[in-house]
Amino acid sequence: TIYARIAGTGSYLPPKVLTNDDLAKFVDTSDEWIATRTGIRERHVVEDETTSDLAFHAATRALEAAGVAAGELDLIVVGTTTPDLIFPSTACLLQARLGAEGCGAFDVNAACSGFLYALSVADKFIRAGAAKTVLVVGSETLTKMLDWGDRSTCVLFGDGAGAVVLKADRETGILSTHLHADGAKKELLWNPVGVSAGFKPDEPNAGVRVLMTGNEVFKHAVKALDSVVEETLEANGLDRHDIDWLIPHQANLRIIEATAKRLDMPMDRVIVTVDKHGNTSSGSVPLALDEAVRSGKVQRGQLLLLEAFGGGFTWGSALLRY
Ligand code: ACO
Repeated sequence: TIYARIAGTGSYLPPKVLTNDDLAKFVDTSDEWIATRTGIRERHVVEDETTSDLAFHAATRALEAAGVAAGELDLIVVGTTTPDLIFPSTACLLQARLGAEGCGAFDVNAACSGFLYALSVADKFIRAGAAKTVLVVGSETLTKMLDWGDRSTCVLFGDGAGAVVLKADRETGILSTHLHADGAKKELLWNPVGVSAGFKPDEPNAGVRVLMTGNEVFKHAVKALDSVVEETLEANGLDRHDIDWLIPHQANLRIIEATAKRLDMPMDRVIVTVDKHGNTSSGSVPLALDEAVRSGKVQRGQLLLLEAFGGGFTWGSALLRY
């Protein structure tokens, strides 16, 4: 068997920080409301940087950690729902900037599950023998599509990127990935405009904004994550106590705690960054993973469970031996 092993991780956050108190200056909210409902205390926001800029910095760090030169990459897959441009893809912009000449490069759009989807695709390429070295990135500038007057969404999101370099390995790596979607629930969490559906020129930002029925999304997220976690354990013949670290999508601390409870995991085995990053969509899982690796928490040989839920709906998981 050939596995896709994580050879290196990297991440990047734009320098500007917006605290809950900063938000309370222009929307009717409070640090207390945001922190108790979501666990978020602050988030990073871009000023001039684009999604491919964040991706470039995260990717450069991951390549360095892996000891891989850009020219060795066979494929680049970027999970994003906030691409710089409609086309070319963010992956192509990133490829040019890295100088990774000639390899395949494409984006995957699965909202907050984008990194899990991208990782799953990359894993299949490696297992099939179609690629040996793959760069997988989750990068987002979600604050660019927020309605800063809507307190029910603008307090939740932040910008950032994370990346991993995968290498074909005979020993160990990604053990399984599991992807799901339910497009029938699209209106509970969506951005209701686009190229072929049309934009709304009379609305602010041409109608580009996040619309979310938060409490419904919350319930669906907890249920879907419970079920994908069970599926992952079952597929690998594992007991829930076998997992060393849970590295969840960082949307809401209460959702993370619900999944940890399902796994009977103490919170000190769960990587939490939502307090400092907010919800960075596709960026959140690889940002959390990189923080866990660089802080020395996650060690080689440990069993990691990654999971995410987002607009679409989409959700997924990956089980890997780091
Ligand atoms: N500050 C103060 N009050 C607020 C704010 C705010 N920022 N936002 C909403 N409120 C008010 C509402 O108006 C409402 O007031 P009302 O009762 O007078 O009408 C009250 O707070 C309660 O609102 P709810 O929506 O019921 O609050 P809830 O406890 O559900 O928390 C939250 C909202 C934090 C959004 C939660 O539902 C959540 O986290 N949902 C899941 C989000 C998520 O996981 N998204 C998935 C990924 S995102 C992606 O894929 C792009």
